[in-house]
Amino acid sequence: MNGKYRALWLDEDDNLVVLDQRLLPFEEKTVTITTAQQSVEAIANMTVRGAGVIGNVAAFGVYLAARESDGDMVRIEELSKEIRESRPTAVNLMWAVDRMMGLAHKKSKLKPMNLIKALKNEAIKIADEDCERSQKIAEYGADIIEEIMLSRGLDSFNILTHCNAGWLAIVDSGTALAPIYEAQKRDIKIHVWVDETRPRNQGANLTAWELSKAGIEHTVIADNTGGHLMQQSMVDMVITGADRVARNGDSANKIGTYLKALAAKDNDIPFYIALPASTFDFEILDGVEGIPIEIRNEDEVKFISGLNSDGEVQEIQIVQSKSSALNYGFDVTPARLITGLITERGDCEATVEAIIEMFGDLI
Ligand code: MRU
Repeated sequence: MNGKYRALWLDEDDNLVVLDQRLLPFEEKTVTITTAQQSVEAIANMTVRGAGVIGNVAAFGVYLAARESDGDMVRIEELSKEIRESRPTAVNLMWAVDRMMGLAHKKSKLKPMNLIKALKNEAIKIADEDCERSQKIAEYGADIIEEIMLSRGLDSFNILTHCNAGWLAIVDSGTALAPIYEAQKRDIKIHVWVDETRPRNQGANLTAWELSKAGIEHTVIADNTGGHLMQQSMVDMVITGADRVARNGDSANKIGTYLKALAAKDNDIPFYIALPASTFDFEILDGVEGIPIEIRNEDEVKFISGLNSDGEVQEIQIVQSKSSALNYGFDVTPARLITGLITERGDCEATVEAIIEMFGDLI
């Protein structure tokens, strides 16, 4: 791994280095993670965000657990359990820990040094595989963009996205943003409407930062603006990422995604979810019923941070202290509102039949 367009990499001492997403876009700073406990903290306190990268940090966390315990399986089990429980909604986290622990059990009789090495290699492999999946999603997604443009005779294209599903969230080019990066490579004239994504502002802070770094035309909008833009024919397609997709195609993503899907349906605008297969949870048959939704601290709604007039990052209160706030992190978009799922195996309908036909071998 070389760190270029990666949200994380190993340093010369084999410690994990991540970009501190809490500071973007105003400061680009890295954090070095040397223990399993630090990986738990980085996931829980949102130093790292986005389903894929959370899974990557979890996988490296299991490697660090093996390293700090000198290959003691009991301790690795304990620490992995903590990592697995560090956030509840993004299933890539559980998927990555389970894959790492599957390997740990298989290799548990090896000398500690070799077990540690095997786990390090597996974590690197997961990140490398994510890159390959991302590239496939990019190509299949850009093909869909081309098809829509051809069928509607468009010479430029407006995409709306919610939250951040770029390379900060899934190495190397993300899920929802991957087709956009690919469209740019294909010289498609593209513009992105970026939902600010209150309360943590992943759109305003992360997606806008990524797009401006890549030189892609974009405009940040308040979360409530999307419906109006859709009515005014200013959106040609919506693409978002996902944190967990049930067997029936119901998709959990950052809070507010569901409302965008409703507005897209009402305005006959294609609404796609982009995801790697590791974001499916085949055990959950009905996503609206079964996907666990994280409830976060109310202060994320009551306070906001940004640059003050002296150019310093400052947090201010925007809701009076005596009012309470409710902070659901995610919502579930029912499959009936989703035009299709863009995956590393191609695009498929958000139906149980289509998902089983394409991914049956993984169930
Ligand atoms: O709570 P976060 O910031 O970890 O939210 C996750 C996300 O970044 C989004 O829901 C994203 O759209 C899907 S993750 C590829």
